[in-house]
Amino acid sequence: MIILGIETTCDETGVGIVQNDDTLLANTVATSLDQHIVYGGVVPEVAARAQYEYMIPTLEAALQQANLTWDNIDAIAYAKEPGLGGSLLVGSMTAKTLAQTLQKPLYGLHHAHGHIAVNFLINNDLGYSMPVSAPTFPFIGLIVSGGHTHIYLYRSMQDYTLLGQTRDDAVGEAFDKVAKLLGLPYPGGPSVSSLAEEGNDQVYSLPISRLENPYDFSFSGLKTAVLRTLQKDIGKDFTFPSYQIPDKLNDEQKANMAASFQHVAVKTLVSKTIKAANNHNIETIVLGGGVSANSLLRNMLSSSFNGSVIYTDPRLSTDNGAMIAALSAHINS
Ligand code: KG4
Ligand code: ZN
Repeated sequence: MIILGIETTCDETGVGIVQNDDTLLANTVATSLDQHIVYGGVVPEVAARAQYEYMIPTLEAALQQANLTWDNIDAIAYAKEPGLGGSLLVGSMTAKTLAQTLQKPLYGLHHAHGHIAVNFLINNDLGYSMPVSAPTFPFIGLIVSGGHTHIYLYRSMQDYTLLGQTRDDAVGEAFDKVAKLLGLPYPGGPSVSSLAEEGNDQVYSLPISRLENPYDFSFSGLKTAVLRTLQKDIGKDFTFPSYQIPDKLNDEQKANMAASFQHVAVKTLVSKTIKAANNHNIETIVLGGGVSANSLLRNMLSSSFNGSVIYTDPRLSTDNGAMIAALSAHINS
């Protein structure tokens, strides 16, 4: 069984080809990121137009990478939700047209669970560093991206319970907003994380929010705490405009804030995820989503949890089509 997966929820055009439920044959991703950098965030109309432009070349590149033709594809899967309207439309129309033309089954799936399903891919000839063995159910799935901060208990890829989620901003969104406050480029996750390596994470003390549900998150308060702390640090009051802050900070202040923010954000994710696993007697934690590419998160979770922590190649942590194909293989097998 060979499934082709299409992912177009935001600014990436991703096509992946997966064999059975564990082998990656192709993963091609085009991105309109460089067109959004100047605005400091994704512009939906620009993203949709780029999806339209990149879709066919990305499909062709995936077939070529897998050394396959359309005759070899047994099913088409696509990310149906959630995402930007125009971007989603390009993926869904493409998938529907392919399924109709090839007379193959079509599966419209939820993007977020694809971030977890991608961890079942354990074989490839493409040089990706993947988990050595597939996760075993039940496990705790932590989905951390620009749109999600969710903890699920998975009994299978079709049977799961949401244990907690963010009450406001997603953690990736917080990385992106803090990057802006520090004058770092979008997307903020990679830029904050690499600057954090030069900083001291104990310089600024930032709050961990307390919520009624122990597995819920709130990152909007943390982002505001970063803003207030920086305003104070440069000797200004709370009315000082955030967009002028980067010019007033020196390199040391920027690096120390990147490290302090990352430390608190990651510590919050780690402690709540481990609490969820321990309270439900679960021995495996599976990570997914763009923020799961973060090495502090991977390392802190692996060293603090008394069980196995599974994550995949960072190229499969951020949005891609292989995760949608992998999810389809697990839902329809
Ligand atoms: O899953 P993803 O590619 O797209 C969404 O579904 O949102 O996640 C994108 C998010 C962005 O907020 C980006 O800043 C964050 O993932 N991200 C990271 C890292 N790489 C990407 N956050 C922290 N550390 C990273 N290394
Ligand atoms: Zn995503």
